[in-house]
Amino acid sequence: MDNFQFNVGTNILFGKGQLEKLPAVLEPFGKKVLLTYGGGSIKRMGLYDRVKALLADFEVFELGGIDPNPRVESVEAGAKICREQQIDVILAVGGGSTIDCSKAIAAATFYDGDAWEMIKKVNNPMIGRAAITKAVPLCTVLTLAATGSEMNSGSVISNLQTKEKVGFSSPLLLPKCSILDPEYTFTVPANQTAAGAVDIMSHILEVYFNPSPAYVADKISEGLLKTVIEYAPVAMKEPENYEARANLMWAGTLALNGLCAAGRAGQAWTIHPIEHELSAYYDITHGVGLALLTPRWMRYVLDDQNVEQFVKYGVNVWGIDASLDKFEIAKKAIDATEQFWKGLGIPMTLSELGIGEENFAAMAANAVQSGWLQYAYKPLSQEDVVAILKMCL
Ligand code: NZQ
Ligand code: ZN
Repeated sequence: MDNFQFNVGTNILFGKGQLEKLPAVLEPFGKKVLLTYGGGSIKRMGLYDRVKALLADFEVFELGGIDPNPRVESVEAGAKICREQQIDVILAVGGGSTIDCSKAIAAATFYDGDAWEMIKKVNNPMIGRAAITKAVPLCTVLTLAATGSEMNSGSVISNLQTKEKVGFSSPLLLPKCSILDPEYTFTVPANQTAAGAVDIMSHILEVYFNPSPAYVADKISEGLLKTVIEYAPVAMKEPENYEARANLMWAGTLALNGLCAAGRAGQAWTIHPIEHELSAYYDITHGVGLALLTPRWMRYVLDDQNVEQFVKYGVNVWGIDASLDKFEIAKKAIDATEQFWKGLGIPMTLSELGIGEENFAAMAANAVQSGWLQYAYKPLSQEDVVAILKMCL
């Protein structure tokens, strides 16, 4: 097992009724709050009104309309409010897009320059996190089980003009507190529930397929994967099933708070950098892109060196007969992964999304360059990425 530091200081308030603690949560930071949210789901489900009522003693400013695949323009707008109004704390109420946008706002507020320049600097390995020196404190109320953004320091922002979707992180962006009430995920539509389930599984698989052994992390990962496999179909059928929503929500948080990666060396991810190109070019739902790519990538990279990890995955996660030939187990595991996502109603080909191969070369070049795919589980060249994308057609 590799050395690691594990220090995730987000205070998690999980379960029914935890929202009532919101005033006490925000109070230590000050009275001026920037409330951020997306396209209106929190208003439709009554959460907006409840939050506003709880914040009656605070001075609340608002930034709504944050898009899925949040745009840099929203970051600029939020940072402007924070600077002009001297905001004490940002309260993000929504899914990963709202939380990610709020993280970028928190940092851009104190950055001397435009937000996109900041994001690109942090994403550049030569400059990195040093570009972020200060951030407005952030608290969140999560409404969608997917990204883990509620308990990690990462953010992903899109620039549709330059066709870029860039991830960056800083410990200063870790939410101070996140309120996770599964009841606020009851209204998540089936397609987003499915995409969220894929995203959770993908965050685990990105580090599970890793060259260095880490038994604890493997067992935690397998347990979380089985949790999603158990409960995603239940939540699809019964959107108001509390146990299903609760287990998905907590699995999503644990999948990307560092727990599944602790003790593993060499953690360059493979599928996310390629998916971010699909989202950047076509603005598709993150989880859909991941579902398309993952089984094709698995088939593309499977070989003598890595087959044992696929066997472990097949036997421990999908319950495939361990006495079978190892390549047969691996192939069955990959098929099971694909069929599971298909069964959740995810479109599993690019053609279904109306996407052809015209931008594959550019997307692949970008994924290799900005996603550091040369250091991935199995290093990928531009040609490899194009071949994988073609398998998705
Ligand atoms: O915008 P509103 O109206 O709120 O509707 C949203 C949106 O349309 C809706 N929704 C959310 N909660 C709902 C709900 N609808 C009904 N009831 C509810 N309770 O769902 C749609 C998608 O929301 P979004 O926030 O975009 O989804 P998600 O949480 O999957 O976030 C996706 C973004 O996060 C990034 C992705 O790339 C993408 O941009 N990621 C962030 C990561 C991180 N910070 O660690 C890691 C991930 O790998 C990912 O890259
Ligand atoms: Zn993801």
